[in-house]
Parts: sequence; structure tokens; C-alpha cells
Amino acid sequence: MSNAVATPMNWKEDYQNKLTTAEEAVKLIKSHDHVIFGHCICEPEGLIDAMVANHDAYRGVHITHMVSLGKGEYTNPKYKDNFTFDGIFFGAGTRNSIAHGNGDVIPVYFSELPIWMRRGILNFDVCLVMVSPPDQWGYCNLGVESGYTFQAMRSAKTVIAQVNSNMPFAYGDTHIHVSQLDAIVEMDMPLMESQPPAVGDVEMAIGEYCASLIEDGSTLQLGIGAIPDAVLASLKNHKHLGIHSEMIADGVLDLVEAGVIDCSEKTLHKGQIVVTFLMGTKRLYDFADRNPMLMLRPVDYVNDPTVIAKNNKMVSINSALQVDFMGQVVAASIGTKQFSGVGGQVDFVRGASRAEDGKGISIIAMPSITVKKDGTVISKIVPYIDNGAAVTTNRYDVDYIITEYGIARMKGKTLRERARALISIAHPSVVDELSKAFEERFNTPYVGD
Ligand code: COA
Repeated sequence: MSNAVATPMNWKEDYQNKLTTAEEAVKLIKSHDHVIFGHCICEPEGLIDAMVANHDAYRGVHITHMVSLGKGEYTNPKYKDNFTFDGIFFGAGTRNSIAHGNGDVIPVYFSELPIWMRRGILNFDVCLVMVSPPDQWGYCNLGVESGYTFQAMRSAKTVIAQVNSNMPFAYGDTHIHVSQLDAIVEMDMPLMESQPPAVGDVEMAIGEYCASLIEDGSTLQLGIGAIPDAVLASLKNHKHLGIHSEMIADGVLDLVEAGVIDCSEKTLHKGQIVVTFLMGTKRLYDFADRNPMLMLRPVDYVNDPTVIAKNNKMVSINSALQVDFMGQVVAASIGTKQFSGVGGQVDFVRGASRAEDGKGISIIAMPSITVKKDGTVISKIVPYIDNGAAVTTNRYDVDYIITEYGIARMKGKTLRERARALISIAHPSVVDELSKAFEERFNTPYVGD
């Protein structure tokens, strides 16, 4: 990041001097550089397309980012010599890179990423970011994200910004001054969108069970995937809910409009929805624009378990790919295949359970089975996690597990009791198989709960 100091008098000239084309700007990236993208919707598609088009100029450029809705073209095996992907969170565009040999995983809690940047555990040469046009004082806005991008822009040696007039102007730690940018490319494009997931009967049943544990006046964290929207749809008759969450999607908007989410009983940041990033549709991004009800803060603050715990009646709701008989939660890998990332799941599970009023709870909610395209039915409740899978939330932290068949509380239960409780919320088609596994695992006859 440039250390220049611009006054409000001269930033316009500074802006003009830094203005360039995407093709020129990406020449600032050199072979073997470590490049970080702005997180999620702050990923500057225009710059990335130009970087990929310029691939012949690079050897061994390391790319790192967390959630991405982009194409992930730099992970195409044909660019193996040009780019490698050191991912923190994987998605559709990057998931196959490890199998192709040009991807790898950096295990890090999202909340620690800015701290690692400040301590030099992870160093970035170039940060590519999408921002709003500058305001009258020369400050551009990150609009939909503060998470790690706020710190990445301050830690990277070079910051290249794509200025997009569709980026909203949001309040919080979202500002960067033109003087702190090294190159500026004006390129308008629609912001990337994530459509609300389909919510069917299974998700609605899960949502109803979650809602039954949530008291009026609670503060919610909502994870990523199909379940959060279903939970929100089940909360229409609740009152005075608040949000302190790593992310929000469109699902919160109906409840804000209906006055259910008003943040009036929050014990930290009363009256405000506090998040690190937004991922949804234009409707959500419009909501973010100059809205004092919304505050974006970096992830090392929002996801800090000690900060989360300051919210009375804190409820965290996250999802999982697999839960074993001991209550170990796998949320980011399918066997050895990296599917996503840890995100803030563990921090919110811990923060909620330590809420200062003693009324916080953490919920892992998931359908009891998944059905693959070829019709194979896979139970998400298993005796043992898949070979090579990584535990996300461990058996010491886990509390409520919910499927469409009910609620199983883990805290306070022995391993046998946990397994019995989990079998009671498994899909009926796998109960016989699971009870046999119970008998082999615990050397005790299985008696249903
Ligand atoms: N074995 C094999 N495949 C499985 C599986 C299992 N046990 N469970 C799910 N899958 C497959 C599904 O079939 C689906 O495959 P498809 O893409 O081919 O259709 C895919 O995995 C995704 O499953 P789904 O249940 O639709 O996931 P989701 O979109 O609801 O997301 C998580 C669920 C767990 C992946 C997501 O919540 C996550 O990444 N969590 C980790 C981070 C986190 O919790 N952050 C919280 C703070 S934001």
C-alpha cells in the first residue's frame, strides 16, 4: 500500500495519476508474487480476467482468497506453471485445483487471517480489490466486505483497485483513501450475486426445530448454505431479534422489513446489524448503501469469541457435511477433498456458548441425508468420519445438532448417549445400519432413545 498522504485538496489529481487500464495494472504483478483478492463480492473480476489474460508474463504466482463466486480460471490446469492457488476457502471455481496438483489449503480460522497478516505469518505482495468510486474526501468504500480485505489492503505492498460505481457505500471499517491505492482501474460491472437457495420441506422442518430453541430478543449468527434461510423463514413470529454474524444473505431482509429483526435488545452494538461481509443479490447490496442500521467490521473483531460472547442470548446456526457418533462436526471437507473452509463456525460455536448471560447456544443444523446425482443416499450422521476428513467443530465444543427428525443435544452426554441421540434424528432408512454400528463401536446393545 502506498504511504503517500493526500489531502482532500489534491486527491483528485492523485486519482487521475493512478488511473490506468486493467491490462497495464496487472503488469505490477511479478512472477512468484503472492497475490490476495478482495474477499467475496470485493473480488475484482475485471482485474482478474486481465491477470489471467496476461498469464504468459508470469511464473509461479500464488493466488490466495477466501469465499469466491468467481470463475477461478487461474486454477485451470493449463495455467499450472503460471498460477497456483493457496486457498483458505474453496468453492465451485477452485474445488478441483487440489486434485489437479495446482491447489493447496492454508488452514486458518477466518478470524485470525488479519492477525496473521499483521504478524507477517502470511505476506502478500499484491492485493486486487473492488471498491466504490471515491466520495468528496477521496475515500473509496468496500461496500459489501470488511472481513480480511480491510487488513489485506493495509498489509500488501501494492494495492490495485477496480473502481465500480455499482459498489454500495457502507458504514464501518470499509474505507480506503485514494492515496493508499497504487493503481486504479475504472470498470463498472454488476456485482456478483448468490441467489437464495431453494428451501424445501426438509429445510423448513429443520428451520422449525431451530426456531423452537430461539428466544425473543436473541442475537443470531447465520452460517453459509441452505439452512440459514430456512431458519429465518421460521422466525416470522419472533420479536426483537438482532444479528451479529460473519455474513448475511438476502434471508435477513424479509425479517428486517417485517420489524422482526430490529436489534433493539442487543447488548453489543444495540440497533445495528454487525457483519464482516454480505453475499446475496442486488436487493441486499441496495440495503447496504448508506444504511446506518448496518455496520461492517473486520473479521478479527466480529468473529472474536470474546466479542461474540458479549451478546446476550447469542445463537449461532451453522451447517455440516457429516457428524459422527461422538458429535464431531465435519463442515469443510468430504473425505480428503476440500469442499469449503472453516470460516467462522468454530469461533461462533465457542463465542455463543460463552455468552456472558449464560443463555447462548450453538446449533449445527443439516438434512439427515444427501442424495447424489446418481441416486446414492448418504447419511450425514455416521459412526466414524470419512477417511481423511478434517474435524471442524470438535466434540468438546459441539452442542445442539438438528436434522429434519429432531434435536440432539451433545453437551452433558456421554459418548454412548450422544450416539443414541444422534441415531434418533438420523434418516429412518439408515437407523438399522447405525444401530448395528453402535453395538460394534460400544459393545452394548442398542436401545433407541
Ligand atoms: N458425503 C458426501 N457428499 C456430501 C455430504 C456427505 N456427507 N454432505 C453433503 N454432501 C454434498 C452434497 O450432496 C452437495 O453436493 P452437490 O454440490 O453435488 O449437490 C454438497 O456436498 C453440498 O452439500 P449441501 O448440503 O448442499 O451444502 P450447503 O450448501 O448447505 O453447505 C456446508 C453446507 C457445511 C458445506 C457449509 O455450511 C460450509 O461450508 N460450512 C463451513 C463454514 C461455516 O460453517 N461457516 C460459518 C460461518 S459463515
